[in-house]
Amino acid sequence: MADLEALKLALPIETVIGEYVQLRKAGATFKGLCPFHTEKSPSFTVSPQRGSFRCFGCGKSGDVVTFLMEIEKLDFKEAVRRLGRKAGIEVEVDRPQPVDPESDEVATVNEAAGLFFQGALASPAGAAARAYLQRRGITQATIDRFGLGWAPAGWDRLLRYLGQRGHSAESLGRAGLVTRNTESGGVYDRFRDRLIFPIRDAKGRLIGFGGRELDGAQPKYLNSPETKLFHKGNVLYLLDAALDTARKAGTIVVVEGYMDALTAHQAGFGNVVASLGTALTERQLSLLYRTARKVVMALDADAAGQKAVQQTIHLAYQVFERQQTPQLSGRVASERTPGRYQAHVDMTLHVAALPSGVDPDEVILAEPQRWRALVEKALPIVEFFFDLVANGSASAAERRQRANQELLPVIAEIADPLERGHYVDRLATVLEVPESVIVSAVEQLRRHPLAPTSTPYGARLGNGRWKAGDAARGEGAWVRRQGTGIARESAAGPNGGGSSEAYSPDDGQEGAASSADPVADDMEITSPPAPGRRRGEIFEATGERSRQRYLLSMLLRYPRMIGRYAEALEPLRPDDERMGAAWDHLLAHPEARTPEDLTAALNSNELVTPAYLEALLRDTSAYQTLEEARLRVALDDAIALLRAERLRLAISRCQRELRDAEDGQRQAILERLVALTREKVAMDYNRTRPAEAGARAE
Ligand code: UTP
Ligand code: MN
Repeated sequence: MADLEALKLALPIETVIGEYVQLRKAGATFKGLCPFHTEKSPSFTVSPQRGSFRCFGCGKSGDVVTFLMEIEKLDFKEAVRRLGRKAGIEVEVDRPQPVDPESDEVATVNEAAGLFFQGALASPAGAAARAYLQRRGITQATIDRFGLGWAPAGWDRLLRYLGQRGHSAESLGRAGLVTRNTESGGVYDRFRDRLIFPIRDAKGRLIGFGGRELDGAQPKYLNSPETKLFHKGNVLYLLDAALDTARKAGTIVVVEGYMDALTAHQAGFGNVVASLGTALTERQLSLLYRTARKVVMALDADAAGQKAVQQTIHLAYQVFERQQTPQLSGRVASERTPGRYQAHVDMTLHVAALPSGVDPDEVILAEPQRWRALVEKALPIVEFFFDLVANGSASAAERRQRANQELLPVIAEIADPLERGHYVDRLATVLEVPESVIVSAVEQLRRHPLAPTSTPYGARLGNGRWKAGDAARGEGAWVRRQGTGIARESAAGPNGGGSSEAYSPDDGQEGAASSADPVADDMEITSPPAPGRRRGEIFEATGERSRQRYLLSMLLRYPRMIGRYAEALEPLRPDDERMGAAWDHLLAHPEARTPEDLTAALNSNELVTPAYLEALLRDTSAYQTLEEARLRVALDDAIALLRAERLRLAISRCQRELRDAEDGQRQAILERLVALTREKVAMDYNRTRPAEAGARAE
């Protein structure tokens, strides 16, 4: 078998990358448009000599394997295998593992103990345990496949058995298989008269055991203690068995219990793992995200809103951010790249809500097809909470309370400004309050995040600063605030902070542009300014771009709307070459009915490729399918927001001009500025008219 170096020699990096990126020779290197972020001029460089690539735009770099891993979302082994197939050579992909003698010892003793437990289950004395498994619907094939066992009653059966085979009591102690009585100093078996679930890590190493009582003993499940190999917070039961299926499916499902995971595998749901009952840890999340982009937590519908999910969300986003950002250094954090954004939408934690009080194993045994449907219908975490708030609440007060406790903290965790803005918008609609109220509540949470497990999450909606009646009065309350020039501060949170405090005083351009577009404002506020550069220059285009992308994505998803909006879209064409080309393509095909129609209508255009359209489409893949009326509202909104964004940009350009202008020019610029500001105010006013608010709530 060849090694990795041989593979790299056999397969020039420019050949592999050339399949994804249009490369042009530039001296000793090749250049092209970076596939990992959107750019106009090529800053993506491939060096055949070094066998590496680097993008000077987004900072991503690596070799041919990293490239394939990144672009195809593969793990290391799979990427190497694929390259091997391409080159027609078989490659040894296992990276050598450093060996730790004590870990090895623990694994070895565990294997021996595992065999003992299996034997005991099969023995006459194991009849009751076998009967129990049978009652739970576990077949002999499953017992054999997963090595289930039984720890006999008695104090030293395992100790004596392994002792006869040369394993010392100390060795068993290091494996957590025996316990020492601190008073008498005596050593005895940890697992006694318990059903045994062997636990393996992702590599298949036997790291420990879970033992279920059969006679009401406490605790219900006794697990291996912390050892060199066993760390409860790292364990995902059956991960080794689920790995391949989950990777292929792109989805991994997490249940709480051993029995649930076992039953799932037995019923053919091979992408299920168990978390051992506790809230997911960072390490577990990281393992999950590495295995599949879509992580589904299957949880009791009632309990879900309360503890497990709440405790996990914060971590989930943190883990996600870390997995996504390390290579994006050297660029402002908010600089969005399509790759990152898609990943973000895909990688959101999903929740499959089980009927209350029912364990997964019961559903799977009784109605496997229902289980399949529950997992398929799993909602991204934010949607799950929206559902709770919108459908699970009896009164407006309850809706608001649930939004406070459950939805706001989740929305505040979303790093992507566009995605966050989308949910802010929706929450405003659900609660029937002005968007600005939600924006400042979310902002506060983002500025003062509390520990993930603490239930009271700092900032809250409705601290007496607004009442539901405001929404009913809508226009009056809202417009009056604008009229007095405090639109930005109008929705100040508990400490009266409002959004203005996030602006630096020397940031002259914000004043007259007092924008009531909360999403755009939000984007600026939460983006850290880059040192030595004026924030306006850096962030100006960001909001516009993301709105353009969103529109492209929505139209691609619902091409039947293209004709209807053609006129409105025409003047909003993006300057960006690639987005502009995609825009043109869409507008040229009002007859299209599905995204596939639009892909089929592509002619060979190096800017707009099927992969690019697919990438755009993915931007909105986590959003619910919209029926006609809501779709129109969404598109109306998106177009209005983009117009507002453009106007905002024009205003700040104007303000800059004004600053630098000579006396003779000032009057003309000032007039333009006034006109633009009027237009903006009129637009904001229209957006918050009650008529529209009514239409949105339909
Ligand atoms: P559950 O109490 O929900 O049990 O704990 P279960 O998995 O449904 O088990 P059955 O169906 O009654 O047999 C969920 C998981 O939490 C961990 C175990 O991994 C268990 O499968 N757990 C539970 C413990 O580690 N210790 C305990 O004492 C209880
Ligand atoms: Mn159960």
